[in-house]
Amino acid sequence: MKKWLRRILKGLGILVGVLVVLVIGLVVYVQLTWDRPVSRAVPQMTAPTDAQTVARGEYLYEYSNLCWMCHGSQGSHSPEEPQAGGLEFDATEIGPGFGFFYGSNLTPDPETGIGTWSDGELVRAIREGLDREGHLIFPVMPYEFAHGLSDEDALALVAYMRSLPPVRNKVPANRTSFAYKALIGLGMVKPQPAITAPVVAPPRGTTAEYGKYLAWHASGCAECHMPRSPNTGASDMTRPFAGGLFPFPEEGFSTTGSNLTPDMATGIGDWTEEQFMTAMRTGLRPDGTVMLPFMPWPSYARWSEEDLRAAWLYLRSLEPIAHEVPASTLTGAAATGTGAARGEALFGVYCLVCHGEKGTGGPLTAVALKDAAQGMDDATLATFIAEGLPGTSMPGFGKTLTDEQIADLVAFIRSW
Ligand code: HEC
Ligand code: HEC
Ligand code: HEC
Repeated sequence: MKKWLRRILKGLGILVGVLVVLVIGLVVYVQLTWDRPVSRAVPQMTAPTDAQTVARGEYLYEYSNLCWMCHGSQGSHSPEEPQAGGLEFDATEIGPGFGFFYGSNLTPDPETGIGTWSDGELVRAIREGLDREGHLIFPVMPYEFAHGLSDEDALALVAYMRSLPPVRNKVPANRTSFAYKALIGLGMVKPQPAITAPVVAPPRGTTAEYGKYLAWHASGCAECHMPRSPNTGASDMTRPFAGGLFPFPEEGFSTTGSNLTPDMATGIGDWTEEQFMTAMRTGLRPDGTVMLPFMPWPSYARWSEEDLRAAWLYLRSLEPIAHEVPASTLTGAAATGTGAARGEALFGVYCLVCHGEKGTGGPLTAVALKDAAQGMDDATLATFIAEGLPGTSMPGFGKTLTDEQIADLVAFIRSW
């Protein structure tokens, strides 16, 4: 072999060797460090147990912070179902792929739930993102924003969880990818800073200041309407409420958190306060289309008048930011299916949240659609779907769905 060739090969060999050592070093470092508990004092706090505090906790849990959306069982659609965990989060397609995670059991069962946690440990989990042992909680749990929750509200949530009936349910262990471990090991995904001073919310009232507290900390608005990095999921706080950067790939649709700043062209600058109130209360936008219930308007519809107007005042006070968010689209069978199959997929997207699995009802409906439909002909059903039912939370879908889509929904309802 020629001398120069041998030298190059030797050089390459050394380079590959160094790379292999570096990669092995990184893998070993990540494996050793990623799950190392953070040692941090547990706040000494005690949740009141009076009925008023529990009621405040329930309001936040069910209608505002929407904890139930992640802490029910797989396929649960209601805050009234047991909060015993198990819902699977498939985060393998997001960014570098994070793995599979499971919503925790938040009922006071001592073995599988939070029964033996202290109040301070629970508050730390909610606001700082650390579990009992000091391990990072997967950041789909929105502690990034709950970090600003007041002591009073955080303790109210604890009081509410403690009031739930204990349910024994062991949630599967998470299956984390190397990429997730590496992001933690390298400090790129980390808990929120320790809270060492009392956190007090602005006084409740119809003010932009209280609305800001609601929009950032005591609800999910910021979680879904903030631009986020597709790689780490980190929020871009320099463009508050300018809308998401990537679509949520849900079953049956793809949607991106809208731009809520007062920008005329790309935000909600041309909305009036009353239009905002109508949208939050009924799901109907100014153009008469129904917002996807993935935007949890059926829950916000239960907000007090004062809280909704405060949120509006805050959104109005934001800097207008020009940022075009792609329109939502239907996907899978909801887009390309036919007949009852498309009806079933559309039902999952628009109706399930209120009417429950196969129309068996839920907390937002007084009558089971399954039974009510038996006494109606197809034309009457189609009219209810298109026009809605005044005086109830049933919105009219006539401007959202085509006649064919409504006919497919009727076909699906008939298959029950
Ligand atoms: C978007 C989904 C989501 C929302 C909303 C959410 N959580 Fe979680 N939460 C999770 C997931 C997933 C885990 C488990 C993460 C893990 O194992 O790393 C978790 C973990 C927890 C834990 C730790 C429990 C344990 O056993 O380790 C507590 C406590 C908790 N959540 C309370 C709440 C409360 C209270 C709210 C509402 C203020 C809330 N969560 C809202 C997804 C969510
Ligand atoms: C779980 C994610 C999520 C949460 C939480 C959330 N939104 Fe939304 N929001 C969305 C999505 C997605 C859309 C777009 C829906 C569609 O295209 O039908 C939307 C749409 C909207 C719209 C209509 C905007 C337009 O231009 O049509 C308003 C107004 C709005 N949200 C306000 C709020 C407020 C206020 C809060 C908090 C109280 C909030 N949202 C919480 C996801 C969310
Ligand atoms: C925000 C909650 C909500 C959503 C979303 C919703 N509905 Fe309803 N719907 C209701 C309520 C409330 C009633 C009144 C009867 C009751 O309370 O059960 C009703 C009534 C109806 C009725 C009249 C028959 C009856 O049960 O009285 C039909 C038909 C119907 N809904 C179909 C649908 C279909 C199809 C969709 C999806 C495209 C849908 N609804 C979405 C809440 C909702």
